[in-house]
Amino acid sequence: MYGFGSMIQQLKKNPKTIVFTEGSDPRILEAASRLLAGNFLTPILLGNEEEIYKVAEDEGYNIRGANIIDPEKYDRFDEVVDAFCEIRKSKGMTPEKARPIISQSNYFGTMLVQMGIADCLLGGATYSTADTVRPALQIIKTKPGNNIVSSCFILVRPSATGENEVVAMGDCAINIHPTEDDLVEICGETAECAKIFGVDPQVAFLSFSTNGSAKDPDVTKMHNAAEKAKAKYPNLPIDGEMQFDAAVSPAVARTKVPDWKVAGHANTFIFPDINAGNIGYKIAQRFGNFAAYGPILLGLNAPINDLSRGCNALEVYSMAIITAALA
Ligand SMILES: CC(C)(COP(=O)(O)OP(=O)(O)OC[C@H]1O[C@@H](n2cnc3c(N)ncnc32)[C@H](O)[C@@H]1OP(=O)(O)O)[C@@H](O)C(=O)NCCC(=O)NCCS
Repeated sequence: MYGFGSMIQQLKKNPKTIVFTEGSDPRILEAASRLLAGNFLTPILLGNEEEIYKVAEDEGYNIRGANIIDPEKYDRFDEVVDAFCEIRKSKGMTPEKARPIISQSNYFGTMLVQMGIADCLLGGATYSTADTVRPALQIIKTKPGNNIVSSCFILVRPSATGENEVVAMGDCAINIHPTEDDLVEICGETAECAKIFGVDPQVAFLSFSTNGSAKDPDVTKMHNAAEKAKAKYPNLPIDGEMQFDAAVSPAVARTKVPDWKVAGHANTFIFPDINAGNIGYKIAQRFGNFAAYGPILLGLNAPINDLSRGCNALEVYSMAIITAALA
């Protein structure tokens, strides 16, 4: 994939540590053994040490050099609990309430990042997206200048020219009912992320309507969001609202919106809500033969990313590199 080589080079110059919340999962162990062999990203595997070594041995993965931490046996556990209580004190957090929360590897791992003990985190091989993301929202929080955490997928497939076709789609995983202003922020963040993967973003705000062909509050939302995004990012090519065919087919774009610049060759897609976005990226992945990298979380103070529970070891390895490169 574009940028992968340069991400690895960057990490070789400045190696990082990454927390895996599901340390005994065979896919995580396979990816960890590959990362350790590459020598640019040190895994911190959370879980029961004995179990992790047993699974690694049974599956034949060499994880020598990995840092294994069992949250409840961690010698700085009390310090982690106190730091969590401080962050959540406005919510009435006490050490008694915090201990069982911090014993869970999703919360514990996120605290390791927050405390600077690890650079970044990748979870979700068995945890749901909500359970991976919630600790990040509560602990790492939204970066200054942003109002929301959102996400995008980078989709990649080989093209006939031999170059990879790369597109970005947001927000397919976090914000269930984004507002107009949320969509503007999702647009800006998704476009920035697309650039990291070599995409010159051409942004389409998607709808079931093209340029007012249908009337509905959902259409108005996408139209207004596109207008607000154009005003906020004057240097970013943006069109909308439009249907997906108008976004990607030059012939359809010529018929429906001949004067629009992005229509017909969009590569960065902003979906109206998580229903459309999540279904949309999976159709591209399953029917369109795209490899899907993500969800890449956008707008957080530190890189925390989520895996699909259906992921394989190669996807874990790729997402680990992407996550660390964002650190
Ligand atoms: C992301 C998600 C888990 C957050 O919802 P939640 O757990 O109900 O979160 P809550 O509303 O309890 O909020 C928890 C905290 O996160 C914050 N938060 C919630 N959504 C946020 C967002 N999009 N951006 C920034 N902060 C957010 C809240 O302000 C709250 O902070 P606080 O506890 O410090 O006050 C929820 O939006 C969700 O489930 N999204 C869909 C995930 C999914 O299933 N995706 C499909 C598979 S990829």
